[in-house]
Amino acid sequence: MSQTADTKEKPYKPTSPNSKLDFASIWEYDPAPESSDHVEIKDKYELFINGKFVKPSKGRYFKSTNPATNKVLTEFAEATQKDVDSAVKAARKAFEGEWSSISAKSRGKYLFRLARMLQERAREFAVLESMDGGKPIRESRDVDVPLAAAHFFYYAGWADKLDYAFPGKTPEPLGVCGQIIPWNFPLLMLAWKIAPALACGNTVVLKPAETTSLTAMKFAELVKDAGLPDGVVNIITGAGQTGAEIVNHKDIDKIAFTGSTGVGKLIQRSLAGTDKKFTLELGGKGAFIVFEDAAIDQAVEGVINAIFFNQGHVCCAGSRLLVQEGIADLLIRKLKDRMESLIVGDPLDKNTDIGAINSEQQYETINKYLEIGVEEGADVFQCKCSIPDAGYFIRPTLLTNVSQANTVVQEEIFGPVLTIQTFRTADEAIEKANNTPFGLAGGVWTDKGSKIFKVGSELRSGVVWANTYNKFDPTSPFGGYKESGVGREGGLHGLSAYLKLN
Ligand code: NAI
Ligand code: MG
Repeated sequence: MSQTADTKEKPYKPTSPNSKLDFASIWEYDPAPESSDHVEIKDKYELFINGKFVKPSKGRYFKSTNPATNKVLTEFAEATQKDVDSAVKAARKAFEGEWSSISAKSRGKYLFRLARMLQERAREFAVLESMDGGKPIRESRDVDVPLAAAHFFYYAGWADKLDYAFPGKTPEPLGVCGQIIPWNFPLLMLAWKIAPALACGNTVVLKPAETTSLTAMKFAELVKDAGLPDGVVNIITGAGQTGAEIVNHKDIDKIAFTGSTGVGKLIQRSLAGTDKKFTLELGGKGAFIVFEDAAIDQAVEGVINAIFFNQGHVCCAGSRLLVQEGIADLLIRKLKDRMESLIVGDPLDKNTDIGAINSEQQYETINKYLEIGVEEGADVFQCKCSIPDAGYFIRPTLLTNVSQANTVVQEEIFGPVLTIQTFRTADEAIEKANNTPFGLAGGVWTDKGSKIFKVGSELRSGVVWANTYNKFDPTSPFGGYKESGVGREGGLHGLSAYLKLN
């Protein structure tokens, strides 16, 4: 199928040895696995500003390690206030210039390109994601990278249909968006942020988390290869200080942040009184409610996925199991048996179920919570599996004999640690489920549709899964109540968060 080219649209010029796609035929995707066998990690990565890789103004770099081996992988540039300013200026210039002068259809085409390039280099991205962040390759290969590509595909489709998405309104982009993302789903969170922003005609300055910047810098190479106009996407690395410089920059129109509730509150405070728009996707303490009539073996698999997926570094993790009294003993026994079969270890091994904890800091945080749990009187069960000597690993853990007021029930642990409580009635389950400062996600397991409706409508959670858990789709909105955040990402809601709708 031929595309009518916008005269201002740049041709696709691959600079990487891995890019072999012919974008003339963008509808016929033919994966070429041999082309993505090569995984390259440079000694050092610069900042990606205005379409170029540039050195940081103060010449400072920080190390990034592989948490499974504790060996240094590479170094990233530390962006200063001056660098943030250059990135914002580049984004502003692109927003006012080339990016707003090309057609919406061309904008979509660039996003389709990025989606296809991610698919083409899926293996490379999956390997890098697992090396830098510690997640099992099975997850980065089957979840993170395909979903990241799916987000680009989904929002590419909206780019020239915004008028239809919001009938009766005149959708306009917001301008320059500052985007700060966490370390648990580095590439996927980049896609959640960049794809809708660009589809709506905005430009972006994105900062990945300091422990997992590798796939973002690889993505910067794709942006260059895809021929996006300079300054539309700027990717700068650094820690919290760099993030704060983005938040406080005067010429930014919107902040999109995913991360801890603590930093989310700081950002909200810094933005008070400014006219910057913001969306915050923060922590969670999801309840996983199992009724007596549930298919118990499936529910056990559900629990395993809800809490041990990505080592439990998941904001919507089902980290509190609420099980109806009559089946509690049986379910816990089956859960313990199943946990003994989990393989904890090398993230790059395809058989691994649970990889490395993302960083030393997070490893210490989780262990601190385990100590608190014991002090509060919890019983601890950990499976007997072996774990590697080097790197940061934690055995899958259950905490029983806990009560609603316990710290481990109230606070986000963000690790492979599940608390277990029992309940008698649906109302009691809902009350316990809602009784934390968070409201991001939850799940209900039952044979009865009526219970699904009751729990689904009474849980104060942005997402409620029924007889499944941790299922994601670009068409579906995601976000929280209470301290879990402000605004929604994904679907049409995620699109409206990047538009002025008058
Ligand atoms: P964090 O909130 O400090 O980091 C997330 C991102 O924010 C990173 O890119 C970081 O560089 C940036 N950042 C840090 N301070 C900032 C500031 N003052 N202004 C702007 N940006 C800033 O999260 P951290 O410390 O790595 O993890 C701590 C806890 O947060 C975890 O144990 C977990 O409970 C929670 N968390 C939740 C996530 C979620 O998906 N909801 C993701 C990551 C962490
Ligand atoms: Mg790392």
